[in-house]
Amino acid sequence: MYRTHTCGELRLNQVSTSVTLAGWVQTVRKFGSITFVDLRDRYGITQLLFGEALQPVLDAQPLGREYVITVTGTVQERSNKNTQIPTGDIEIAVEEFKILNKSAVPPFTITDDTDGGDDIRMKYRYLDLRRNAVKKNLELRYAVNRAARNYLHEQGFMDIETPFLIKSTPEGARDFVVPSRMNAGEFYALPQSPQTFKQLLMVSGYDRYYQIVKCFRDEDLRADRQPEFTQIDCEMAFVEQEDILQMFEGLIKHIFKAVKGIDYTEKVERTTWEEAMWMYGNDKPDIRFGMQLTNLKFPQHTFVNKQVAVPSTTKGNAEHAALESDFAVFNDAETVIAIAAPNCSEYTRKQTDELVEWVKRPQIGMKGLAFIKCNTDGSFKSSIDKFYSEEKLAAIAQACGAQKGDLILLLAGAEERTRKAASELRLEMGKRLNLRNPNEFKLLWVLDFPLFEYAEDDNRWVARHHPFTSPKPSDIATMINNNPAIENAAKYLEHPYANIKANAYDMVLNGNEIGGGSIRIFQRELQEKMFAALGMSPEEALHKFGFLLGAFEYGAPPHGGIAFGFDRLCSILGGSESIRDFIAFPKNNSGRDVMLDAPSSIDDKQLTELSIKLNLA
Ligand code: AMO
Repeated sequence: MYRTHTCGELRLNQVSTSVTLAGWVQTVRKFGSITFVDLRDRYGITQLLFGEALQPVLDAQPLGREYVITVTGTVQERSNKNTQIPTGDIEIAVEEFKILNKSAVPPFTITDDTDGGDDIRMKYRYLDLRRNAVKKNLELRYAVNRAARNYLHEQGFMDIETPFLIKSTPEGARDFVVPSRMNAGEFYALPQSPQTFKQLLMVSGYDRYYQIVKCFRDEDLRADRQPEFTQIDCEMAFVEQEDILQMFEGLIKHIFKAVKGIDYTEKVERTTWEEAMWMYGNDKPDIRFGMQLTNLKFPQHTFVNKQVAVPSTTKGNAEHAALESDFAVFNDAETVIAIAAPNCSEYTRKQTDELVEWVKRPQIGMKGLAFIKCNTDGSFKSSIDKFYSEEKLAAIAQACGAQKGDLILLLAGAEERTRKAASELRLEMGKRLNLRNPNEFKLLWVLDFPLFEYAEDDNRWVARHHPFTSPKPSDIATMINNNPAIENAAKYLEHPYANIKANAYDMVLNGNEIGGGSIRIFQRELQEKMFAALGMSPEEALHKFGFLLGAFEYGAPPHGGIAFGFDRLCSILGGSESIRDFIAFPKNNSGRDVMLDAPSSIDDKQLTELSIKLNLA
């Protein structure tokens, strides 16, 4: 028998028991005629004591780091207890041991504070996975997986697998394609998501479907994006948007409780896409803190790709009037956006200079940053004193809702860039002021996304979520009765399609989009209209989506759904920015698996079988 107990299990009440343990040698410490070894397995670490009698055997067969051994001995109380580990009160007085396998010297230390850099740890990921920190992440991932399954099962959802070798499903990224040997010259696509399959399952009557499923997208990678990632993918029939929102905030709350012990009893906040863009400058605002943007100028036309109307919640013309002066930089700018940073009026010159440098970085791309210090005595001090009297500064401060002691940051420039920069600056200030506490979790539904986005390069409309998303019922007529053609690209915002809103929603957690979904189109005619609006000819629509259009003719129920980014959810719950830490075998930022050295070339025989000739430049 290799083991009777694990290395995380033994306590004082097992003293005098004879046990056998197996695991990896973490450390070997020789003290005169005795040797201590820390033995590690998945469950913990137990100290082994090799007494004097075993020293000759140890000398003959020395133990090294990461050797796999099995030992038999007696549990005894430690004289020198270790309060840091659960087994720290005991040790095993070893009677016999056996080396099951030797180990080469590992290329980095298998410890929480390892000396291994990212690349080397990815190359030897099987060693990295031995580290406690990584193991904890995978344990959390499994806990989220189980909690999701439990909840969905209880709610009557059925896990149904869908194929990986499919035909392209557009979700906005490029497909990974797989050549077919048996069908020369033809390719499968790996699913960007099981979107069309889950809709077909609704047509088939499986009215509550879920799957924790791999999705594949050939897109530029970031800390929160992998080319293959996992979704908690869900669909329901006979539902309206409100049913979906309720069901799935229930799911996330259940996961919070099961995994983190958090009772999320407060109401999940909701905002519209327009409001989010207006007040936070992005569609996934972090609402753990305030510091909303104040738009001191109302743009007539807003973003290149996104349409924003001025939401009814703004403070109206008061904001606009506050800015009047002959300061050319503000007057000539498309927009001026202010942020009131709480209790920062005493920032030093060095601190404000640093912020100016921060907004000038190429990633942010602003020319400068103006300040108004709202002093605690009620006076104002500003970098634009020359152009704004004390009263004017007070008016701006009032428009921004700034309090005594606040520092107002002002950005001016072209609408889209300035809004993006303001959004980033808000997040940066939130970070600097410690307002983004990783142990606080704030959910937000973002609703009423635009149905279409304007694709400048092709001068046409593209689906903002995906082509199966339904317009708001009140906007269906606008979609059906207007020609999608954009006659004047510069005035695309005046096209009626620019204002059509979708029955689509995203769930945002601490400023991250953790899920997105929509109520679907379920009638063939409307789906055909949608494909036409996206510039597809009827033939092309039939060729690509004939199966779905066909299915809609055989009694498709109203349906809708959502998919959560499982890796993202895990990383946020685990307090990390990178989803890689929560994936057992992730790819690096160039989409490579450095351990396998994939992707790699294949041999000529395989290429011939696949009828493929390479055309490498
Ligand atoms: P969507 O494209 O919004 O919707 O994806 C759902 C969620 O998946 C996560 N996600 C990713 N996570 C890691 N790496 C990626 N490359 C990546 N791309 C997306 C995000 C996102 O919110 N079929 C629709 C869902 C539906 O309509 O029901 C879909 O896939 O957290």
